[in-house]
Amino acid sequence: MTRGTERDAERDPTGESWWRSAVIYQVYVRSFADSDGDGVGDLPGIRERLPYLAELGVDALWLTPFYPSPMADFGYDVADHRDVDPLFGTLEDARALIKEAHAHDLRIIVDAVPNHTSDRHPWFQAALADPAAPERARYIFREGRGDGPPNDWESVFDGPAWTRVPDGSWYLHLFDPAQPDLDWENPEVREEFEDVLRFWLDLGVDGFRVDVAHGMVKAPGLPDVGFTAQSEKRRHEDAVLPYFDQDGVHEIHRGFRRVLDSYEGDRVAVAEAQAPTLERLAAYTRPDELHQAFNFHYLKAPWSAAALRDVVENSTTPATWVLSNHDVRRHVTRYGGGETGLRRARAAALLTLALPGSAYVYQGEELGLPEADLPEEVQRDPRRKRGDGRDGCRVPMPWEGTEPPFGFTSGRSWLPQPPGWRDLTVEAESADPGSVLNLYRQALRIRRAHPALDLEWLQGPPGTLVFARGTLGCAVNLGDRTARIAAYGPLLLSSEPIDREGDCLVLPPDTAAWWHRH
Ligand code: NOJ
Repeated sequence: MTRGTERDAERDPTGESWWRSAVIYQVYVRSFADSDGDGVGDLPGIRERLPYLAELGVDALWLTPFYPSPMADFGYDVADHRDVDPLFGTLEDARALIKEAHAHDLRIIVDAVPNHTSDRHPWFQAALADPAAPERARYIFREGRGDGPPNDWESVFDGPAWTRVPDGSWYLHLFDPAQPDLDWENPEVREEFEDVLRFWLDLGVDGFRVDVAHGMVKAPGLPDVGFTAQSEKRRHEDAVLPYFDQDGVHEIHRGFRRVLDSYEGDRVAVAEAQAPTLERLAAYTRPDELHQAFNFHYLKAPWSAAALRDVVENSTTPATWVLSNHDVRRHVTRYGGGETGLRRARAAALLTLALPGSAYVYQGEELGLPEADLPEEVQRDPRRKRGDGRDGCRVPMPWEGTEPPFGFTSGRSWLPQPPGWRDLTVEAESADPGSVLNLYRQALRIRRAHPALDLEWLQGPPGTLVFARGTLGCAVNLGDRTARIAAYGPLLLSSEPIDREGDCLVLPPDTAAWWHRH
């Protein structure tokens, strides 16, 4: 792919790096498109659907892990960082996908999972086989306290973050027991991992999404936390935990950045970092660290003008807006579900895509998919043990036809799709000018014609957000009363049909509109 293409210039006349204003589409590989009928999405399946993604109008794809894995955490338990799991294809398929995506002017970002490996990784197998093996020092093994684990840390999924091995010592796993944490104090770990990055960069990827970017460094001495329900408390009370967002992680990211900068082209890394404040999050994107960090504060904000404005105003650049991903309930459902949730999701799409910066779109959000309500017996996610499974946002894409599996596979899809999704297929929505899909397509096209890196707030009544990105005006009504917004210039797009009174747009509740500013 030629870098600095004409399309880049059109997108970003300021000459800034492509990723600063890119719309990046998250492909949850397992659930996107299945080419071989085994019910699980794969790389050739994505390849077949590249024209769909190019037509949608996104700039890049982020692919979730497709490396060899026992799938205890559906690929976030990596057994070999330099290959492709047979379930998803071959290394040749990966190469072909990267090449063909580039031919469609789509960049490719892959997942890097540095905090832990699979327990089937040869390093961990060697560490288990012999306590004196050097591989043991690449993980975090400790002696217990009496009969119990070394400290009170809890796994993000459920139960203690420690598992005992037959020789009596314990190893740390912040996630599933099948995901032992690496010890980043050990230089061999860093060396190996930077080499893994080089492997994929050599293959032609445009960057990485760095998994658990806040987790690799643990507080010295591994001190107790002192309270239970740690991941819940942390989420609600912003507690700082001795295993997350420690200052030492930044040195690791500087190392990653040096690797990226040693390559030609504008290669990028986005941090999946959970930081208690926007300020601490900003540290991950200092000029010598990663390029972007998902703005989860935006994702978690309720549907409220005050809350969203607060996040937007306090977010630093480079901004990276995100509403959904494979770890959270889909935002149609989070915003209230049903008709209300859908109206808000449509308005949220126009809000998100108007904000200057980069935006991530999670597969299926462009169809307005809600969270699927799955019976317990079909749920597969390890986090379901804590009563908070993520399968409902990972249900395979509905492509066409009137009944499951809606063109996703010729076999039986690994998670069942709700029969009601017949109206939400790509085929059905393509044929409906008022569909969410056509809203995204239009929005992405218009966004490209109005590039901007700065935001200007405009006057609006309470309960609304009104602002401009360059020549594009955006108004969103998050209140419960109709709002009149002064908008000088022609209407470009609205999330619902709306009226105009002179120079005013009449916005009912949960509606957004874009106009061309004069
Ligand atoms: C974040 C990933 O997005 C999630 O799916 C995974 O379970 C954890 N990291 C552990 O790798």
